[in-house]
Amino acid sequence: MIKIAPSILSADFTKLGDDIQSVRSADYLHFDVMDGVFVPNISIGLPVLKSVHKSTDMILDVHLMIMSPARYTSRFAETGADIVVFHVEAETPGNTRAAIEEIHKLGKRAGLSLKPATPAEAVMPYIDTLDIVLVMTVEPGFGGQAFITGMLSKITEIRSVIENRGLACELEVDGGINPETAKLCVKAGANVLVAGSDIFGEPNRAARIAEFREACEKCEV
Ligand code: DX5
Ligand code: ZN
Repeated sequence: MIKIAPSILSADFTKLGDDIQSVRSADYLHFDVMDGVFVPNISIGLPVLKSVHKSTDMILDVHLMIMSPARYTSRFAETGADIVVFHVEAETPGNTRAAIEEIHKLGKRAGLSLKPATPAEAVMPYIDTLDIVLVMTVEPGFGGQAFITGMLSKITEIRSVIENRGLACELEVDGGINPETAKLCVKAGANVLVAGSDIFGEPNRAARIAEFREACEKCEV
């Protein structure tokens, strides 16, 4: 099943509650955390997550773009994240394994994300234990960038491992996603579509989410 995950990075933070309400027909709510070190931008963190968690029943998909994420994964899980995704490039293998286990112990879903330059192989040692793999389709750090078409082969590669091993792992894409690029990603094997500027840039978000679903309906592999 195709899932749509609007990214609140493109919301108006002075009326965040209303903006979240406007995308409630989506499947996940994507929450981008940036520390100004792992990526050249700073966004939102635990206090905002706490408020968002109180104000919505949507599944909160937290994307950590921070250095040493293992130090913070449990705090994000305890503060309301339903899915905690962190970057494979940002942690040691030992800490990566420990963080995945810790997220699961707290009853939450765990995911790993890859920057565009990171090959699919980087997540393979962990994939059997993951609930989601997030393929970045732009350089992480900013909304509104153009989709990198070269990421489609990485999506295909990860999807084939998920199928071959019979895993329940979801495959998410993030960056430059609109109904057209979404179709390409779904054809390549993605099933969770993050979209920030595209969805929040539309006055009628529910209609845009419906357009995404319609565009992708027939493309699922
Ligand atoms: C970028 C973030 C994305 C961002 C996507 O580093 O991880 O979630 O919000 O924005 P768009 O959809 O505008 O490319
Ligand atoms: Zn993101």
